Amino acid sequence: MRNFDEFTITEAVLARVAAATDPRMRLISQALVRHLHAFVREVEPTQAEWAAGIDFLTRTGQMCDGKRQEFILLSDILGVSMQVDAINHRRSAAATETTVLGPFYVESPPEFPCGADISGGMTGQKLSVEGSVATLDGTPIAGAIVDVWHADAEGCYDVQRPGDLAGRGRLRTDAAGRFHFWTIRPSSYPVPHDGPVGQLLARQGRHPYRPAHVHFKIAAAGHETLVTHVFAAGDPYLDSDVVFGVKDSIIRPYTEQEPGTAPDGTVVAERYATLRYDFRLK
Ligand code: BEZ
Ligand code: FE
Repeated sequence: MRNFDEFTITEAVLARVAAATDPRMRLISQALVRHLHAFVREVEPTQAEWAAGIDFLTRTGQMCDGKRQEFILLSDILGVSMQVDAINHRRSAAATETTVLGPFYVESPPEFPCGADISGGMTGQKLSVEGSVATLDGTPIAGAIVDVWHADAEGCYDVQRPGDLAGRGRLRTDAAGRFHFWTIRPSSYPVPHDGPVGQLLARQGRHPYRPAHVHFKIAAAGHETLVTHVFAAGDPYLDSDVVFGVKDSIIRPYTEQEPGTAPDGTVVAERYATLRYDFRLK
């Protein structure tokens, strides 16, 4: 086969990749070719635009290292990460809704007992976070592993600054399926935007911000691991999260409290905030 034009070339490539013996590989390759060719036919790029696209992808790869994953960021800001999340976690009415893991999760974070302060020296308004973990029918899950992490009051994660881990930790639910910790209130923050993805956001006329949130990854034997956040009610970026990760069911008030003695006996000299979420695992 030869002498392809801008239309017949699609069928030719589809026929060629049909040789893949792995059926999943064949399906993925054919869908990729169909959609990519349709994209090019719709956009009709100039040679210079095509070269700029290749250059963008090259710089995206070159930006990646052990600490920075620019391709995941690209997938996030194009809504693809949330689309994959949605496909893989089709909603069961009673289960807590999922959202993106993000790039700042650390495997095996430091362990803390219930009630501990995980802020690790971050400064800002004190925040008490409590909640519970249960099955879909509401049965408490004891010993669930609750990993939490969040940005500081300036919108930076510990791993974005030199120094020790802070604002993250691993707790286990008690016999009644409950957990509680102290930390500081995170703020909304921009995703890393000093690379090609940041340039793309600027060219698309978009801001790079995410609304304030605390991340949770909750694992319990016999249950699907839950990856989610709890967003701060009233945050100005809830309707324009740069990674499209907000769902109504995972927004909660970070409620302001007067100085005084908190229910766990901690004496707090300044106004502080409280957050509560009760998680349900599939
Ligand atoms: C985060 O919430 O930590 C995050 C998610 C996606 C991209 C960047 C950061
Ligand atoms: Fe985050």
